Amino acid sequence: MDHIYYSKNVLDEGTLHNLQELCLKRFDEIPTYNFSLKTEEPRNYLEEVIRDLIGYDNHVEYWVRDSTDATLFHVDANELEAKVSRAKYNTEDPEMVKEFPLNTHILYIYIDSKMEKGDLILLPNQEYIVGRQILDTDFEPLEGQEMFIVKPKTNHMVLFDKPIYHAVSAVENKDVVKHRLALMFSSWKKIPKVYKDHHHWSNDINTNRTIYNQTGLSGPEPMEFKNFTI
Ligand SMILES: [Fe+2]
Repeated sequence: MDHIYYSKNVLDEGTLHNLQELCLKRFDEIPTYNFSLKTEEPRNYLEEVIRDLIGYDNHVEYWVRDSTDATLFHVDANELEAKVSRAKYNTEDPEMVKEFPLNTHILYIYIDSKMEKGDLILLPNQEYIVGRQILDTDFEPLEGQEMFIVKPKTNHMVLFDKPIYHAVSAVENKDVVKHRLALMFSSWKKIPKVYKDHHHWSNDINTNRTIYNQTGLSGPEPMEFKNFTI
C-alpha cells in the first residue's frame, strides 16, 4: 500500500501537551471547517502545528474532531460545499463538481489507552466511486473487500494520498472514555470556491459533529476563529 503512511511520535511533548490542553478546554470555539492559504502566516495554534509538519507547499483544510461516535464511510472531498448545497436545495446537488484534496492526515491528539473500538477503518483499494454523493449515507464495503484497521494512539498519525473510503467505528466503552480527539488536515492544490471568502465555517446548528447529520435545514455558516493560541 504505497498510498497509506503511518508515523509515531509526531509532535514533541510540549507541542502535544499544548494542543491537548487547548483543544480539550476550548473545543466549542473551534469551527467545524477551516482553511489556510499557503501564502498566509499561521493565524492560530492549529495552523502553527500543521505548518510545522507540512510546510507551505499547498493550501490546507483542517478539522478537529472530539467524538466517541461513529463516522460513516466517506471520501474526503469538497464536503463543505456539498453541505451548503444540501442546506439550500434540501439535497446534495448531483451536478456539483466533486473535488478532492491531495491527501488526508489524521493526527491523534488525545486517545485514552482504555478505549475500546473507535477504530479508523480504511478501504485501501476503494477510491471514490463516480456518481456517488459526497455526503454518502449508504456506502457499504463489498463482501471480502480488503480493510485496513488502525487502532488510534496518541501522537500517531495516519496519512493517505488517494481519495479512499474510510470510516470510524463507535467507541464501545463511552461510559469510561469521554474523548477521542483528532486533528485532521488535507492539502489542497486549489482553493475550493466555498473558501474564497470565508475560511472558517460552523456546522449545522444544534447538531453534533458527526459528518452526516441529516436533521434540520440550517446549513454551515461562516464564523470567526480568533485568539486560539497558547
Ligand atoms: Fe474523512
